[in-house]
Amino acid sequence: MFEKEQQIIEAKIREFCSQNDIPLAELKWTSIPFSGEWGMSTSFFATAAHEARSGKKIQVPQRAQEITEQIKVQIGRVDGISRIEAVKGYLNLYFSTPEYARRVVDEVLASGADFGRGAAKNERVMVEYAQPNTHHSFHIGHYRNTILGESLARLVEFAGFDTIRASYPGDIGLGVITILWAYDRFYKSQEPSGIHERGQWLLKIYVEATAMLEPKENETPEEKTKREAYDAERREMYRKWDAGDKYVRDLWLKTREWSLEELRDILRILDVKMDVWFFESEVDEPAKEIVEELIQKGIADDERPQGGAVIVKIDEKLGLKKEKYRTNIILRSDGTTLYLTKDLALAKVKFEQYHVDRSIYVVDVRQSMHLQQAFAILKLWGFKQAEKCYHLGYGFVSLPEGAMSARRGRVVLFKDVMDEAIRRVLAVESEKSPEMSEDERMKVAHQIGLGAMAYSMLSVDNSRDMIFEMDNALSFDGRTGPYIQNAYVRANSILKRSNVQTLQRSNVDFSYELDPHEIEVIEKISQFPDVVQQAANEYRPMVMANYAYDLANAFHSFYHAVPVLQSENEEIRLARLRLVAAAKQVIANALRLLDIQAPEVM
Ligand code: ARG
Repeated sequence: MFEKEQQIIEAKIREFCSQNDIPLAELKWTSIPFSGEWGMSTSFFATAAHEARSGKKIQVPQRAQEITEQIKVQIGRVDGISRIEAVKGYLNLYFSTPEYARRVVDEVLASGADFGRGAAKNERVMVEYAQPNTHHSFHIGHYRNTILGESLARLVEFAGFDTIRASYPGDIGLGVITILWAYDRFYKSQEPSGIHERGQWLLKIYVEATAMLEPKENETPEEKTKREAYDAERREMYRKWDAGDKYVRDLWLKTREWSLEELRDILRILDVKMDVWFFESEVDEPAKEIVEELIQKGIADDERPQGGAVIVKIDEKLGLKKEKYRTNIILRSDGTTLYLTKDLALAKVKFEQYHVDRSIYVVDVRQSMHLQQAFAILKLWGFKQAEKCYHLGYGFVSLPEGAMSARRGRVVLFKDVMDEAIRRVLAVESEKSPEMSEDERMKVAHQIGLGAMAYSMLSVDNSRDMIFEMDNALSFDGRTGPYIQNAYVRANSILKRSNVQTLQRSNVDFSYELDPHEIEVIEKISQFPDVVQQAANEYRPMVMANYAYDLANAFHSFYHAVPVLQSENEEIRLARLRLVAAAKQVIANALRLLDIQAPEVM
């Protein structure tokens, strides 16, 4: 906000230090929260400590204060800065309050949807998420993954990083083959019509097949024979898939497409636009080549001649004394690859074909060990970006009714929860706003229902398990999506009622006595750019979720306490209308980073 003043002051500080041979440390600025006025602050302890280390006999705190005082004198007067203080090694600069308020509001309104966007960082980040296994339907856990990944991608992108969104569906493995086998055996050429019905139907087949293939208690000899025969058929199908058998491959592609159609539809609903699609099946062959290379380089041990597998003794190769990553198989004795092997091949593609500097994996916390092992092998293999691989884990989602289990067919489908959320919002809306048109009501119900779900996922610590409670999520009070959306709607309705044409005028004066609620809103708005950077750097959409709530909360309080349309005079009215417009803009920007829409009415 005060870059220009900051630059002038930094230049003066540098000049002073070089004239006096003072080894200036990096200048870090923090903002001073409102206490009668706003300000920003930096300190000279690190600089004094530099001097001390270079052999000068000095007391760091005293010396820091001495430097600060001298710098204060050197700076003298700067336009836009109302006063300067040198206290205990800190240089505090204060702004005139009306000037600060005006600048914040002007900058928000001038930048609009771009307010808070960070400068381009010249670093490419890939975020991998929304990568469920195919031949299943999309459940509420996949939704948590997707919303977390999308919010993170939006944050990273807005913070200034070149961002690539990637998906990596698990489209092959024994689970997939199990479904293929059962489909082919018992349901051949049947096909439910709806996009979302097929996924659920495949899941039903999976559950049935799993039951058939699992040994039962008190199994009769006939049952046992039958089960073993089924299992042999399934394995034969896997072998055929591996050998590229046309019939099996076609069947596989056709059924895979059903799941992908559903996935694409859900991504469309959630406004997620993937840049790259990787598939597990596509990295299977490349993974086998990597195994050879790792053997050549002495990173992997080939124990096949002794009837074993190809393994990597990660701890030993990294020279670790304590057990950390353990020893891992990367190729089975029958020559098939593992999930881990494929992740090595995937990382190679990410680094070499997409030239990413950093790679974030949004994956269930239960796969934490798996990913740490993959990253460790990449490091052994010599990828310098291996250190820049990051696992963003997330916990289990359950409903108050209980936990899910795909194998048992107990899953909570995202689509069902979404439909229910929308239905409930519609019921409320019909009562509250009977004048709304049918179309508009449906649109708003979508925005609120989905907003409620997204916020409930993003506002809890990602690594924790959570229980999704529909009624809490949909509430208009408390830490919810609708509460924040409602702040946006209120701001919007004030502006609509104002009929002001001149809102674009920028030099509106805030030199009246600001109400504490106005100050709170201005302060919150001014923090937004820093919150973007923090949330992106810490990979924590929750930081943005909390901020959005705080901002909405400040706005609701302002709305109740401070007259806008009925302000004392025209100048104050105009200033407050501009503040309302700025608040509306920042709420919209924050919501967008959470992948939540801002409804015009509700
Ligand atoms: N498809 C996997 C699953 O549903 C998640 C993939 C995670 N990403 C990865 N690179 N391993 O469990």
